[in-house]
Amino acid sequence: MQLSTKHLLGIKYLTKGDLQLIFETADGFKEVINRPIKKVPSLRDITVANMFFENSTRTRISFELAEKRLSADIVNFSASASSLKKGESLLDTVNNVLSMKVDMVVMRHPAPGAPQFLARHIDANIINAGDGTHEHPTQALLDAYSIREQLGDFTDKKIAIFGDITHSRVALSNIFCLKKLGAKVRVCGPPTLIPKYLPQLGVEVAHDVRETLEWSDVANVLRIQLERQDIKYFPSLREYSQYFGINKALLDNLGKKVLIMHPGPINRGVELTSDVADSEHSIILQQVENGVAIRMAVLYLLAARK
Ligand code: CP
Repeated sequence: MQLSTKHLLGIKYLTKGDLQLIFETADGFKEVINRPIKKVPSLRDITVANMFFENSTRTRISFELAEKRLSADIVNFSASASSLKKGESLLDTVNNVLSMKVDMVVMRHPAPGAPQFLARHIDANIINAGDGTHEHPTQALLDAYSIREQLGDFTDKKIAIFGDITHSRVALSNIFCLKKLGAKVRVCGPPTLIPKYLPQLGVEVAHDVRETLEWSDVANVLRIQLERQDIKYFPSLREYSQYFGINKALLDNLGKKVLIMHPGPINRGVELTSDVADSEHSIILQQVENGVAIRMAVLYLLAARK
């Protein structure tokens, strides 16, 4: 079995069969990373460049660990310490790295479409590790994989995405992924942080957090991305937290269990209180653990598409 594509540019370009193949491959790698010897030789002689033009903790470490577990050779590039500061272009930067015989590029970039641009100009496999407000495909894959682990089949499962949808690449990738898998998807947040086009993606839109939690099997809670907001979308973080934050009292009054997810980094006390983030409802750290297995699966399957 092979993926239908040689790059992972976005969930939009994957088939349902691709998603299932990635999950089944990740099942095997999850077993590997829980062994005393966590390494397999699958990517020996493959060189991967991790090119991060924007900050990251989870995604960068998770890709690096996934590559090491697969025995790949790795080069790490950080924009802040590079010749970009001297005016070098993205394409020149990547072509220079590739001329050193790199096979795969994992790239995070603040510009939506940057990985698509690279894929048109270079030969290596490109993996999008987050492009601006557009897509974050491996985050959506690890989110869906974590839901699958907890709830099994996706058909008619109710998954709500809360928060700043407008500025979130995680939201768009999750919507594409969950809809392809057959789940019901709703977004919930202030009207100013929900794009007008969302119903066209087959997604319900709501603004009442309590009612949406009552509807949900899973709540994927996103952070307010103040760094991408050039105008004020709501009066204050305090007011946001009061009307759109999720706290323990809200969950305790539901009379049912809702799984709490968050892609990180969490703004504790804004979108989630600590007693929710750290509660028995939360699978936030399982998401991080599953990220390594999912990224191993993506790297392994794309390497076979060279
Ligand atoms: N979830 C996520 O992308 O986190 P980082 O920005 O830390 O990689």
